[in-house]
Amino acid sequence: MASNGTDAFVAFDRVQKSYDGETLVVKDLNLEIGKGEFLTMLGPSGSGKTTCLMMLAGFETATHGEITLDGQPINNIPPHKRGIGMVFQNYALFPHMTVAENLSFPLEVRKVGKSDREAKVHRALDMVQMGDFGGRRPAQLSGGQQQRIALARALVFEPELVLMDEPLGALDKQLRETMQFEITNLAHNLGITTVYVTHDQTEALTMSDRVAVFDDGRIQQLAPPDTLYEEPQNSFVAQFIGENNTLEGVVSKIADDRCEVTLDDGEVIDAMPVNVSAVGDRTLVSIRPERVEYNKERLAEDAHTIHAEVLEFIYMGDIYRTRLRVAGRDDFIIKTRNAPDQRRLRPGEHIEIGWRPQDCRALDA
Ligand SMILES: Nc1ncnc2c1ncn2[C@@H]1O[C@H](COP(=O)(O)OP(=O)(O)OP(=O)(O)O)[C@@H](O)[C@H]1O
Ligand SMILES: [Mg+2]
Repeated sequence: MASNGTDAFVAFDRVQKSYDGETLVVKDLNLEIGKGEFLTMLGPSGSGKTTCLMMLAGFETATHGEITLDGQPINNIPPHKRGIGMVFQNYALFPHMTVAENLSFPLEVRKVGKSDREAKVHRALDMVQMGDFGGRRPAQLSGGQQQRIALARALVFEPELVLMDEPLGALDKQLRETMQFEITNLAHNLGITTVYVTHDQTEALTMSDRVAVFDDGRIQQLAPPDTLYEEPQNSFVAQFIGENNTLEGVVSKIADDRCEVTLDDGEVIDAMPVNVSAVGDRTLVSIRPERVEYNKERLAEDAHTIHAEVLEFIYMGDIYRTRLRVAGRDDFIIKTRNAPDQRRLRPGEHIEIGWRPQDCRALDA
């Protein structure tokens, strides 16, 4: 156990940050990251992700609260002893050094011997598929290539903690996916604790042990990817992660694990009360496109169904994507697996849709 009384390798304890002494860009942040964990900070632009990384790296100080690394306050550990590998949003390589020298530098600082250095540099370059570029200078590389070198440089000395701020932003889709796989593999194999920042929710969901969804300087939800997607705790998270249908209404009946919501057009639906507490509460209900059912035989007998008009049918190969008009909105999407027993809907058709109450979450309005 670390001296701060927790098992966490990294801990943010009631951290606040203001740059101008007035507005808080990070508000009362509490976060514990386990050794070897891959944690992603995901959120819209300006939500405070980079600020959190900069404080963790020790480049910015918290206005209030404390950040500890292995139980020690981060500001008490001298920068060269922190053992943190970093890839920043603006991946500044040393312009006067070659690629190989850039990678060798963090090893020299740590007094790694020459032959060992060469082997590690070689391996790191291969990892980012830049094995032939050791002799070039950063100015002779494309943006994406520079980004890969920055990544290699952060990992070459096998740090205990790696901070990455949008490290794959400049890469094309295919390279991006390869690198996502390489990074998570490497992190897990070497037991590196990783704090990763991205805008890209697919990246967050596929790479992480846990995801912290940021908005407005706060963590809105911190959970493993499947929990985040299937059990969003508020409307922001439901709408930010994955595709989501929203309907608006008022709670008209409520029990422990089930409620009825009367939509604004008078129709009644089944939902799970997540962020509502009483009859009369206004709510935004959230339902995933793949959890909507239009085949009555697949619905429970007592399930409420509501009326929908098919507006558009899109054949996507593995799935059908159908857009409906529901409760006065014409952006309701359903996704159905292309299976032999699944009927294709036709524009103009009128259908009844429903779902299991546990798949429809009554959240804050
Ligand atoms: N050095 C600074 N001085 C003053 N304000 C800053 C500074 N750095 C960031 N901010 C402000 O703090 C807020 C959070 O910024 P931050 O860079 O942490 O956001 P972010 O979540 O990383 O966004 P993005 O996804 O665009 O990179 C923003 O409103 C930003 O304008
Ligand atoms: Mg940022």
